[in-house]
Amino acid sequence: MKHLYFSLLLILFLSACSKRAEEPVYVIGVSQCSDDAWRTKMNQEMERELIFQPQMQLHIRQAMDNSELQCVQIDSFIREGVDLLIVSPNEAEEVKPAVTRAFEAGIPVVVADRRVSGDKWTAFIGGDNVAVGQLMGEWLCGLQEEFEEVNVIEICGLPGSTPAVGRHAGMMDRIRGCKHVHIVGSGMASWFKLDAERVTDSLLLLYPEANVIVAQNDQMAQGASVAARKNGRKMKIMGVDGISGPGGGIDAIVEGRIDVSATYPSRGDMVIQTAAKILAGEPFVRDTVLQTALIDAQSAKPIMLQADIMDHEIETFYALQNKMLHLGDEYEMQRIIIYGLVILVGLIVMIAVILFQVYEYRQRVRKEREINETKLAKQQHQLEKITAELALSRAQQQHFTEEHFMQRLEEQIDLRLSDPMLDVEKLAVEMGMSRTGLYRKVKAATGQSPVELIRHIRLHKAQQLLRSTDATVQQVAYEVGFSAANYFAKCYKEEFGISPTEDCKKSQPRTPNA
Ligand code: FRU
Repeated sequence: MKHLYFSLLLILFLSACSKRAEEPVYVIGVSQCSDDAWRTKMNQEMERELIFQPQMQLHIRQAMDNSELQCVQIDSFIREGVDLLIVSPNEAEEVKPAVTRAFEAGIPVVVADRRVSGDKWTAFIGGDNVAVGQLMGEWLCGLQEEFEEVNVIEICGLPGSTPAVGRHAGMMDRIRGCKHVHIVGSGMASWFKLDAERVTDSLLLLYPEANVIVAQNDQMAQGASVAARKNGRKMKIMGVDGISGPGGGIDAIVEGRIDVSATYPSRGDMVIQTAAKILAGEPFVRDTVLQTALIDAQSAKPIMLQADIMDHEIETFYALQNKMLHLGDEYEMQRIIIYGLVILVGLIVMIAVILFQVYEYRQRVRKEREINETKLAKQQHQLEKITAELALSRAQQQHFTEEHFMQRLEEQIDLRLSDPMLDVEKLAVEMGMSRTGLYRKVKAATGQSPVELIRHIRLHKAQQLLRSTDATVQQVAYEVGFSAANYFAKCYKEEFGISPTEDCKKSQPRTPNA
């Protein structure tokens, strides 16, 4: 019974302790190649998606545009035994060995944004860089209406990265048919604004005929814009990414610092959704290529406004979520209090039941003890009665035995009363016992020794004869076994305080004839 109470309390306790929300069970290693506005957006999108995938926990590390460092970080993720790896490789070839190691260690690998060489990965989600490049080329071709000759400076990202390669290839492919478009100069700025500013500075000097700049991302486009302005050059500038928010491409277009941008979606939400499907063993799309579109001065404003609204909505959503979490916390607190109360009540009930059981048990024990005591008293009483009866019957028995013994003894003495030779030895033989046995028994029954008893009986018999017959003292003495009359007389006097002769006279006053 007690076990049952404890089990119930244990179940209550455990269910009280179990968390309301789903605990993260999957650790996802996220290896970002760098840290900038675009990556921050992607990371935010991934984090937000976890609201719908609470079983996942992200560990984000960024490699500061260093492929070697990224490999080290991926290897540490492998050692830590992450459940899945999301990687945005800094450079396709350089990061390939680490990605392969993770894949071969059995860790599902989701490659995001930039591709990696080889096919040792589980899924890919990212923009179509060739399409981005083609959009660049298309825009350049379209500039023929504005410029007689479109003389382009190209500012490239990190050469070993797939966006740099793809965007350049796409652009070249698209401008092939546009005779007025010429790439007059190009420089590498590794995706950075300041590098782009510096590179553009020198390229503008080198190519005074240049009137257009295409940068492979908006950061570099804005760096190029600074350089152009500094050099007093009115340039048409295109970037890539088209993200909203401070420092992003949309703002730059609205503010007139750059002209256009090709969108390059980050879609961290999709990355997480794909990862969740992989972990759940559900079907997923292995290669997801995201679309691109051109944003110009006309579309930038509504996009910016739309993005503001979106941001506001996201903020509202987060405020609501916070509120819900707060409510959830309150609910959790109340739940704990209720469980605590239930456990407390359970404990009180349990203690009450145990106390009642103890009380009942004591009562039962007391009653049983009383019954036993009564029984015992009765038994004792019976025992005492039996003992008394036994003692009585024993005493009677003994008395009877003693009486019987004395009767027999006296009979034996009587039979041989006249025999002066009757002694203790003979009497013992007659009674079938030893001399000492006879002595002890006679002594106990009469307080006399057998010799004294014989003499006592002889003398009493003599008294009887003297008083009831006409026999002389001498005759009586012989009759009762005294061989000497003198001795008889002496003993008689000792016994009765009177001589036999006097006794005889006193008791039988003789007739004169007699
Ligand atoms: C950010 C970034 C973006 C670019 C992308 C390509 O690190 O440079 O600006 O579009 O990477 O992977």
